[in-house]
Amino acid sequence: MINAVITGIGGYVPEDILTNDDISKMVDTTDEWILTRVGITERRVLKGDHLGTSVMGIQAVNQLIEKTGVDPLDVEVVICATTTPDYPFPTAASIVAYNTGCVNAFTFDVQAACAGFLYALETAANYIRSGRYRKIIVVAGDKMTSITNYTDRTTCPLFGDGCGAVLIEPTTENLGIIDTLLKTDGSGLPHLQMKSGGSAYPASHESVDNHEHTVYQEGRTVFKYAVSYMADAAAEIVERNGLTNDDIDWVVPHQANLRIIDATAKRLGVPEEKVMINIQKFGNTSAGTIPLCLWEWESKLKKGDNLVLAAFGAGFTWGAIYLKWGYDGKKA
Ligand code: UT7
Repeated sequence: MINAVITGIGGYVPEDILTNDDISKMVDTTDEWILTRVGITERRVLKGDHLGTSVMGIQAVNQLIEKTGVDPLDVEVVICATTTPDYPFPTAASIVAYNTGCVNAFTFDVQAACAGFLYALETAANYIRSGRYRKIIVVAGDKMTSITNYTDRTTCPLFGDGCGAVLIEPTTENLGIIDTLLKTDGSGLPHLQMKSGGSAYPASHESVDNHEHTVYQEGRTVFKYAVSYMADAAAEIVERNGLTNDDIDWVVPHQANLRIIDATAKRLGVPEEKVMINIQKFGNTSAGTIPLCLWEWESKLKKGDNLVLAAFGAGFTWGAIYLKWGYDGKKA
């Protein structure tokens, strides 16, 4: 039986850093509040005019190509998980593929907010399992600072910019994406959305004046759903695959709030040293958080390690993936 396995990872975060102290000069907040309520100290910002998410995606994919030695001409599909494509159309995937030499690939974007990487990974895995495709790149990330309202203290400390990219190939070994649980609950719309700029409320002078082209979030409500749904999904996938907490080598949670991460780890009974956490330095990069964790932890990962990925985002969209890592250590 053919399964799909991650065979390499690349990543990119911009150099410019926005600290909590910088944010406390923009809105009425403190380093202490952000650190204790969310767990963030600083986040990265893609500075410069007219630089979209694809700029980071291209860097991540180029690094992936370099590390794996894959010939970009052999890549058959490029899927980009993002909520902040460079343009409403065409897709960010088309821009990334063109600029990384993946010119034989067909390309599309997946928009599932913070759960985007999980949705895209499951999609790619099924293309591979079909037997028709052998090399797929999933690139995931967001330029969240482009849709952040820096006059709103309840949302502006949360977000940062970054992208990760993985290569997915077939395997006949007992490795790769073993099980996936993805969910959607469209009743989440009023609680987490960008109010304008879509077909329901096209851009207008009023929408710009009202900051309606940025993230609107009812934090407390979203927190409540995120804590229970993300932990439920992770617990369900662990249970239905007969895993005990000792079997889990790594938990890879979406990085929205340290308290949500802690709740998920606690629910799984997994100690903190097995949980990938980099929210303190990157904040919430939406679709980018999980691949950026894998990217940072790559050197510690071993072939056959059991990883549980879990995320929750706008929609609501959420889910968990159980995968067995495909190779030892860091690819050069
Ligand atoms: O990634 C996609 C999904 N998103 C999430 O998972 C995010 C989920 N939500 C959260 O992580 C949290 O709800 C937030 C971090 C957004 C907010 O934390 P919270 O503990 O839920 O705060 P809150 O909204 O309940 O606000 C508590 C208090 C309020 O003051 P009062 O009403 O108690 O006087 C807020 O006005 O904290 C106040 N507050 C702040 N104070 C200082 C809100 N933001 C700030 C701030 N600095 N930046």
